Amino acid sequence: MINIAIDGPAGAGKSTIAKAAAKEFGYIYVDTGALYRAVGLFVKENGKDTTNEEQIKPLLEKLTISLKFIDFEQRVFIGERDVSSLIRTPEISMAASDVSAHPIVRDFLFNLQRDIAAKNNCVMDGRDIATVVLPDANVKIFLTATAEERAKRRYHELITKGQEVSFDEVLFDVKKRDEQDSSRKIAPLKPASDSIILDTTGYTLKQSIKLMIDTIKENI
Ligand code: DC
Repeated sequence: MINIAIDGPAGAGKSTIAKAAAKEFGYIYVDTGALYRAVGLFVKENGKDTTNEEQIKPLLEKLTISLKFIDFEQRVFIGERDVSSLIRTPEISMAASDVSAHPIVRDFLFNLQRDIAAKNNCVMDGRDIATVVLPDANVKIFLTATAEERAKRRYHELITKGQEVSFDEVLFDVKKRDEQDSSRKIAPLKPASDSIILDTTGYTLKQSIKLMIDTIKENI
């Protein structure tokens, strides 16, 4: 199977760009952030503390997460429940970042990710895909942009979806998540030694997609 690993910080446009690249090559697009978000949602729904590993541990025993691909489009399920929309709020973004720092959560999601990559040609996006999940991926890309640029993009995305947020709030969240995701002890956000770094600051979405597709074609 051909596996393309795409890592990078929150709001670098990974999902939109990786999705477009997957479509170009006819591969499925796997958004692993959705898995951490589903865990974050489940912990919150159960009234537990997302920063407390001891509280999360027993919950994982009754949690079944799965991904389904409908027309190459990913949907995430908790049991039989499609939670794909519920996980897209700023509150769950932070909860996902919190739970992702716990080794027990990363272990819990590891096999699920490996299994999908073993069975499908895919473009998989996350934070540790090239470094931990798929160290043998055919192409590894680290997609980034400045925090301000990423906050600007995320802000417009949330506003378009009708969510009430301020730009400063979004920028604060982006920086906080960067700090949290990069400084955690386990699987921190960082490029693999053989990752290709793509910085899309100042690029339009169309230019970023072209850059990604051209880079994959050159390196596959
Ligand atoms: O890509 P995203 O914003 O949906 O990810 C949500 C959180 O999940 C992010 O703050 C870090 C975490 N995450 C991770 O630790 N490892 C991954 N492979 C994907 C996401």
